[in-house]
Amino acid sequence: MSDAMRCHSAQLGGPMSLTKVLLPRLGVNIDHVATVRQARRAAYPKPTWAAQLAELGGADQITLHLREDRRHIQDEDLFLLRKTVQTRLNLEMAATDEMLRIAFEAKPDMVTLVPERRQELTTEGGLDVAGNKDLLKRMVAELKSADIHVSIFVDPDLDQVQTCHRVGADAVELHTGRFCEAKSVREAQEEHTRLVHAAKTAVKTKLRCYAGHGIHYDNVGDIASILEIEELNIGHSIVARAVMVGMEQAVRDMKAIAQAARRDAVLFAKR
Ligand code: PXP
Repeated sequence: MSDAMRCHSAQLGGPMSLTKVLLPRLGVNIDHVATVRQARRAAYPKPTWAAQLAELGGADQITLHLREDRRHIQDEDLFLLRKTVQTRLNLEMAATDEMLRIAFEAKPDMVTLVPERRQELTTEGGLDVAGNKDLLKRMVAELKSADIHVSIFVDPDLDQVQTCHRVGADAVELHTGRFCEAKSVREAQEEHTRLVHAAKTAVKTKLRCYAGHGIHYDNVGDIASILEIEELNIGHSIVARAVMVGMEQAVRDMKAIAQAARRDAVLFAKR
């Protein structure tokens, strides 16, 4: 192992296999399987089926967002997934006492705290951690006391990332939406640079670094090439492709692209 990689491994918190350090894990968000079901208030398709197929396709984690308005995932889905998911279960939730109570009951492996607004189509921005320090400190401490790994979804802003460390979070998930939706090459480059700096800051402050939102098959390589990012959380593009090719294949394809990009980035960094 090279010094750089050993150093990277150490920054991530101790001995790890080279493969684990190098290859990004894939969290598959299955909310939109429930969106299809809720469109008709039908009994199918079931998020548990999607989760099992995603795991067969190589998902390292299943992610779901139990929203206050229950527009897609329902409470019952969470409890069924808790019983059936074989990898790790990541519950995205707003920082409210109602959600905290549900998390205590369901015991996901990880909680990702996200902002929530009723009118939004999807999560639109990162959580303002700096502006909600006391609330988040309490939430993080309570979740950690229940042995739940806590990540906070933030914009790639250095102050927000550092504040995540101050409120005691284990990890940050960097919001990749602005990069993914950039309208010009210049804007994309600027947003990518912000992500790189935020990822380096996260690792420097001993936070694990994850990323997600808006990632699809054509841009996942750009995100996966940021070596500090350990895990990608991807939903809409995988579920959309799954409608055409099946969930297992859609996940396999995404993981293969992400891992190939990471291998290239590591080789490039070693030159
Ligand atoms: N990460 C977080 C925190 C999210 O809220 C979402 C959307 O639910 C995602 C990742 C996945 O985003 P997308 O569906 O655009 O892949």
